Amino acid sequence: MKLPNGPQTPKMVQILQWIFNPMSYMEACAKRYGDIFTLQLNVPTVFVSNPQALQQILANDAKQFEAPNDWNTVFVPSLGKNSVITLGGKAHQRQRQLLLPPFHGERMRTYGQVINDITENVLRRVQIGTPLNVRSITQAITMRVIMQAVFGLYEGSRAEELEKLLGLMLGKDLDSPMRTVILYFPILQRDLGPLTSWGTFLRRREQVDKLLYAEIGERRSQLDPSRTDILSLLMAARDEAGQAMTDEELRDELMTLLTAGHETTATALAWALYWIHKFPSVQEKLLAELDSLGDNPDPSTIFKLPYLDAVCSETLRIYPVGILTFPRVARTHVSLAGQEIEPGTVVIGSIYLTHHREDLYPEPKLFKPERFLERQFSPYEYLPFGGGARRCIGMAFALFEMKVALAKILSRWELALVDDRDLRAKRRGLVSGPERPIQIVVKGERTVMSRNLEAIAG
Ligand code: HEM
Repeated sequence: MKLPNGPQTPKMVQILQWIFNPMSYMEACAKRYGDIFTLQLNVPTVFVSNPQALQQILANDAKQFEAPNDWNTVFVPSLGKNSVITLGGKAHQRQRQLLLPPFHGERMRTYGQVINDITENVLRRVQIGTPLNVRSITQAITMRVIMQAVFGLYEGSRAEELEKLLGLMLGKDLDSPMRTVILYFPILQRDLGPLTSWGTFLRRREQVDKLLYAEIGERRSQLDPSRTDILSLLMAARDEAGQAMTDEELRDELMTLLTAGHETTATALAWALYWIHKFPSVQEKLLAELDSLGDNPDPSTIFKLPYLDAVCSETLRIYPVGILTFPRVARTHVSLAGQEIEPGTVVIGSIYLTHHREDLYPEPKLFKPERFLERQFSPYEYLPFGGGARRCIGMAFALFEMKVALAKILSRWELALVDDRDLRAKRRGLVSGPERPIQIVVKGERTVMSRNLEAIAG
C-alpha cells in the first residue's frame, strides 16, 4: 500500500518513541515531512494536521471515511466491547443516539448547581496553607460531578469505594509508562500477580465491576420511573427491536462515562489553574470579569463570559488533553493534503500539531487567551474535542463544568502556585497531562476578605 512519507526507523523504535514522547515525536515528524506523514505503529497510521484535510476527514466520516471500532482496541480492557468508544458501525451509532440526550446543551442547567456545590465542598475540605497537588482537587470535583450525573444523588459506601478505585485506576496507575506499553502490546496483557502493573489493573477492574453490577441489579429490582439520571435513562431506553440494554452493555457504558467523563476534565481544570496563576495579568482580567457578576452568579451567565471562555479555549489549545482524534479509515481513494490515500488506510487527526501551527497560532508555545478574542477558528483549526461521527459526547458538559468550577474557585478562594517554573505536557496513559504535579496552596477565602473591606469602607 502506498503511504505518505514518514520515518524509516524500525517499527519497534517508532512505537516506543510514540509511547514515550508522543508530542515531540509528532513535532519532529511534522518538521521533516509536513502536514501529513506515516508512522509505523501497530498498523501504519497516517497523521494529519492540515485543517482542510481534517475537514475532509471529519466532515465525511460516513462517506469517504469511517470511524470503525477495530483501532480502538486499546480501550477494550477498561471499557469493554460494548462501549460507544469501542463499538463501530451501526452499533456505535445506536449507542451514541442513546447517550447524547443527557449531554445536550439545555440539560447543562440541571448540572450547574451540582458543579457549584461540589466545588464548594471540595475546596472547604482543603487544608489552608498546605501545598497540595492541584489534581487532588480537580479530580475530586470532576469525579463527584460525573457520579452525580450518571447515578443521580449518589452517596454511601459503594459510591466512596467506586470513587477511590476509579481514582487509582485513572490517577496514580496511569502515570506508569509500563501500563501504556502493555495497552499497545496485547500479548503482554497477562496476569502475573497483584504486584505487577497489569495484575493490579485486573484486580481493580474486578472490584469496580462488582460495584457497578451491584448498582445495576439494585436499580432493576427497584425501578423508579421518576429518576432522570443517566443510568435510569439508559435502563429505560429501547432499540428499534424493542430490546433493552443488557447488564454487560450498561456496565461498559457506565465505565465509559465515568472514566472519559472525569479524567480529561480534571486535567484540563488543573492546567487552567496553572496558567491563571502563572500569569498575574490573566488572573486579574479574569477576576475583574467574574467580580462584575456579583455574588452567586447564574451558571449560564458564567458560561457566556468572553474572557473566561478565551482562557478555557487557550488551555485546551496549548496542551489538548486528547492529543489525537480516534482513528478513521479511508473507504475510497482520496487525495489528502496533496497525497493519494488508498482505501483501508488508517488516518488520524493530530489535534496537538494542528493547535501548534504557526500560521494559525503565532508563537504557539505561548499561553495567550487573547488570540481567541481576536479571531474565530473553524472546527478544523481548533478541535480539542475532535469532530465528525465520533466528536466528544461530553463537550458541552466538560466546558460547562470547567467554567462553573473555575468561576467558583477563583472568585471564592485565593490560590498560589508553589512553583511557577515552566511546565510541558507528557503522555498520561492514552491522553496527556502535565509533566510533573502542579503544586498549589490555598491561602484562604477571597470574597470574605473583600466583603469585609467593603463593609469597613461602607
Ligand atoms: C476537557 C474534557 C474532554 C476532552 C478534551 C475530550 C476529548 C475527546 C476527544 C478528542 C474525543 C475523540 C473525538 C474524535 O475522534 O473525533 C472524545 C470522544 C469522546 N468523549 Fe470526550 N473529552 C472530554 C470530556 C468528556 C466528557 C466529560 C465525557 C462524558 C461525560 C466524554 C465522553 C466522550 C465519549 C463517550 C467519546 C467517544 C464518542 C464516540 O466514539 O462516538 N468526554 N473526547
